Amino acid sequence: MTVSKTSGIGEDTIEEVARYLGRGGPLSIGDGSGIIERLERRLEDLLGIRNVLTCSSGTAALHSAYLALDLPTGAEVVAPVTTFHASVTPALQCGLTPVLVDVDPDNGNMSPSALREAITERTRCVVVTHNLGHPVELDEIADICREHGLRLIEDCSHAYLSTYRGRPVGTVGDIAVWSMQAAKTLVAGEGGFLATEDRALFERACLAGHYRGRSEKQIADPALRAFADTGMGLKYRLHPLAAVIAWSEAAHLVERVERRQRLLTRLSSRLEKTPGVRPPVVHDDVTMGGWFSYRPTLVPRGDDPRAAFERSVDALQKAGVPAHRPSIGSLDSMPLFTGPPPLRHATSTWRPRLCGPFDGARAYEQDRLSVTVTAADDLDRMEAYADAFADVMNGWSGSAAVGAR
Ligand SMILES: Cc1ncc(COP(=O)(O)O)c(C=O)c1O
Repeated sequence: MTVSKTSGIGEDTIEEVARYLGRGGPLSIGDGSGIIERLERRLEDLLGIRNVLTCSSGTAALHSAYLALDLPTGAEVVAPVTTFHASVTPALQCGLTPVLVDVDPDNGNMSPSALREAITERTRCVVVTHNLGHPVELDEIADICREHGLRLIEDCSHAYLSTYRGRPVGTVGDIAVWSMQAAKTLVAGEGGFLATEDRALFERACLAGHYRGRSEKQIADPALRAFADTGMGLKYRLHPLAAVIAWSEAAHLVERVERRQRLLTRLSSRLEKTPGVRPPVVHDDVTMGGWFSYRPTLVPRGDDPRAAFERSVDALQKAGVPAHRPSIGSLDSMPLFTGPPPLRHATSTWRPRLCGPFDGARAYEQDRLSVTVTAADDLDRMEAYADAFADVMNGWSGSAAVGAR
């Protein structure tokens, strides 16, 4: 697989898009046929999932998932405080209200005990994110959901090909959702999809964002089919060119993920032996799949650990390691979760409940940095990064920097 240096996607993908345009492939597909259907079948085969519905973004797929669950107005959705906002914000559009709970300090995943404590008589749904590719404690969380009659959405956007106790993520919850936005392991540019074993949920998700052709073709339930002409008023179909990109890129997904695993496992095994650095924790019963982002923790020493952390990040950058503080904070710091929304829509239903203090989230975030590792990197580069970490953490000035790529 040759990767384009400018876009990060395969050279063959660029040719595939040109071929599609050259032969006059349709630029709008309303009935889910052609490249849309081919992509969906490929995703099902690759990820071990069924009834895939592609959408214009991961956010659109999440909105469709919440609509498909058809929950009563004001129902509570329990979500981890550490996730991308769109895991839960589409619930705002469905008259639901979020309940944010704490996470495991090791991996930023929803804490099952925090979930248990947050459940009330209004709770109807739980959304989990397999944070940065590390699967959540799916068995325990699914047990809690069963016990309390709650629906479970798995947000797998970071976790392409991750497994939990030998099972692919996305196969335990009622609905699973993936983003194919440009930074994800599988790229459409903008795009997303959902998958569910439950045909009734698929049909409702289809009606949510795919009026006419696709709803007429794929909805069997006459009570829903009667609305196929308009659907629920949204248009969430995937752009065919995005589908071509994702279809072509999906052919390389396993190879890409295996390569990334090799690189990051090597980096972790070196950082494990470096004083002052803790590589990301990976539990024994999971695999990290596409490992969305590599985030070790520094253990800064001295009287002023904050300043020591900043100095270390600076020194790593000077030594050529693409390290930076993660740019997105947790949801408890965001205005949409801390005050009334700025538009009147849903002010009476969206009443975020923050089940703090979020000690797990704070411990997870503390002294964590993100190291960018791309498809253009190799094992030698991982060794060079590890050498730079060792030098910086040993207080060395870092003059023998990682070479330019
Ligand atoms: C965990 C998670 N969920 C959902 C989304 C939303 O996906 P999209 O950007 O495709 O709408 C993202 C995107 O960054 C994400 O990281």
